[in-house]
Amino acid sequence: MDYNELSAYVDSRKREYLNELSGIIRIESVSADPSKKKEMVRCAESISSLMREAGIENVTLFETGGNPLIYGDYKHAEGKPTVLVYGHYDVQPVDPLSEWETPPFEATVRGDDLYARGSSDDKGQLFMHLKAFEAFRKLNEEIPVNLKYIFEGEEEIGSIHLEPFIRSHGELLKADVVVISDTAMYGRDMPTICYGLRGMAYLEITVSNSAIDLHSGSFGGAIDNPVHVLADIVSRLHDKYGRVTVPHFYDDVVDVPTEEREEIARLPYSDAEFLRQSGAVATFGEYGFSTNERLWIRPTLDVNGIYGGFTGEGAKTIIPSKATAKVSMRLVPNQSSAKILDLFEIFINQIVPPTVKVAIKKMHSGEPALTPINHPAVKAASAALERVFGRKPYFIREGGSIPEVLTFQETLGAPVVLLGFGLPDENSHAPNEHLYLRHFFDGIKTLAVLYQELSS
Ligand code: BES
Ligand code: ZN
Repeated sequence: MDYNELSAYVDSRKREYLNELSGIIRIESVSADPSKKKEMVRCAESISSLMREAGIENVTLFETGGNPLIYGDYKHAEGKPTVLVYGHYDVQPVDPLSEWETPPFEATVRGDDLYARGSSDDKGQLFMHLKAFEAFRKLNEEIPVNLKYIFEGEEEIGSIHLEPFIRSHGELLKADVVVISDTAMYGRDMPTICYGLRGMAYLEITVSNSAIDLHSGSFGGAIDNPVHVLADIVSRLHDKYGRVTVPHFYDDVVDVPTEEREEIARLPYSDAEFLRQSGAVATFGEYGFSTNERLWIRPTLDVNGIYGGFTGEGAKTIIPSKATAKVSMRLVPNQSSAKILDLFEIFINQIVPPTVKVAIKKMHSGEPALTPINHPAVKAASAALERVFGRKPYFIREGGSIPEVLTFQETLGAPVVLLGFGLPDENSHAPNEHLYLRHFFDGIKTLAVLYQELSS
């Protein structure tokens, strides 16, 4: 296919693309919210329709016990590689809703960006793959590779049902390469290939004492306070060098080769830009590592939320019966999420005082993953980016997680190419999530060129 023709075609369809994407954005597919089960199914059905309309065949919804998985394929390029495209149609919760400038599920163009929950993570990027496919059909071009699609609705809650599905559907999903667009570019108009993601180990820790909240005058000071204990535990999870104190936490971390650390150091980076992107006061983290190293090659531990006792308006005098913290640990290659969860549990049981009870609830986990950057599929992605963006891509790792990347790699024996078009400051998981429109349209072009590159 002629690139100029492709480019002109995509540019001529901008309005339709935005209208269609708005349709799937409108469906409130928040996987963390149990009251949205119907929306999850509706969203999966709506994406299935888009797939069929684009010409994708064998589109099927698979029941999983959780949210449906969407499969589809188009396998008419005999002798050519098979590409498995993965994406997720679930989104993060929208709260705090009052911080949104326009309603989260109404896709709104403002300036150069499309604002909505899921615009960047990941409905917009999933959609780009469908439109890249469709472009070939509309231009009467043969699809140059065999394509398979697997879209899930539980990525944001740890891909609980995808893992067993991949393991039991090896033949259905069999592919030479997996392509995922669910990461960010290093900056605007800076084409990027991500070759590493961190893993995840998520748990909840609940400290409890009395069966119900008690009058703090009658009991305060004479029994232990779960909020105090929890705060103490949280404050003991890091040392003054920013290291995680859970014993053996770092045991399996392998040193990143000096050459790779040098590569990372050569990427354009400035504290000022990082602080602008984050809106934070100052950089912070493990002693002896740069910001990108802290995010990409070091494991970390963060409390995502903490609650307990009275948090409403005004004052209330109680000793809370319990307090909870949600804790996530980001892991790096060679660490095992199961092992880290166990280590955490052992540590907490060691340090909790005998004056309270503690319970740990393991929530979900995912393993870290690395893509072999010398694989021909990565070269193809690199060539596609260069064709569309006019410059060679940056190679980066990311601090985020896509839980099943390693499962794809191990089960299918295929590399996973992380070719994402988001941006670090697009507020994913936060109010006013948006997608830079130029990346949206150029991403569609890049994916179409990628299919061609992979074919040759
Ligand atoms: N799209 C992100 C993954 C991501 C985030 C890649 C940042 C690169 C940079 C994905 O949808 C996501 O947020 N994943 C979760 C997974 C978790 C719930 C297991 C994450 O990283 O928090
Ligand atoms: Zn995502």
